[in-house]
Amino acid sequence: MNKPYIVGITGGSASGKTLFLERLLNSFEPHQVCLISQDNYYKPRHQQPLDDRGIHNFDTPHSIDFEQYAEDIRKIHNGETVYRQEYTFNNPNKIPKMLEFKPAPVVVVEGIFVLYYPELADLLDLKVFIDAKDYIKLKRRIVRDKVERGYDLDDVLYRYEKHVMPTYEKYIEPFKHEADIIVPNNDSFDRALDLVKSYLKLKAEII
Ligand code: C5P
Repeated sequence: MNKPYIVGITGGSASGKTLFLERLLNSFEPHQVCLISQDNYYKPRHQQPLDDRGIHNFDTPHSIDFEQYAEDIRKIHNGETVYRQEYTFNNPNKIPKMLEFKPAPVVVVEGIFVLYYPELADLLDLKVFIDAKDYIKLKRRIVRDKVERGYDLDDVLYRYEKHVMPTYEKYIEPFKHEADIIVPNNDSFDRALDLVKSYLKLKAEII
């Protein structure tokens, strides 16, 4: 098999990366694409930095075991299969699955810091930045964090203001200009998604 084509997808929290990815992955056969998300590389809770109120801050680049993340991406790039336990966020009762990442013609690397870590950014053949207005990201995050990640509203608002936004300004937005494609996602991303799909199929010779 040829070396996989590696695409990095980033953007602020709740910018719509997951929906974009779901729609992208659905247009490939399962064996044609492998998704390896940064979320599965959060360090354990006791290793997460605390802010000045003693609240865990999951929004610093130190929150992620990026050495292992980069190592696993390199392995997949070299044709090895990688196993990693799923990260279950704030849901201690959820039993984590064992995830299997198999090499495929297209490898998607996704997360808020994938352009920030040079070890990761250097591995990417294509960089996509999903962009949405701050109030839209906040709206999406309130809904998602309640339904999927087990946080109440006060928690979401506090962390959005104190952790998520400062991180966006410091570690995410400054790398936007390094992206090959910026996808506006305040409303719909359909045309940009079509472009990325067609381009990846061409690059990975899946047509
Ligand atoms: O999916 P998304 O890119 O939004 O995931 C990143 C976000 O996950 C970060 O902004 C971080 O605040 C959040 N997170 C969380 N609880 C954890 C770990 C991360 O809410 N235990």
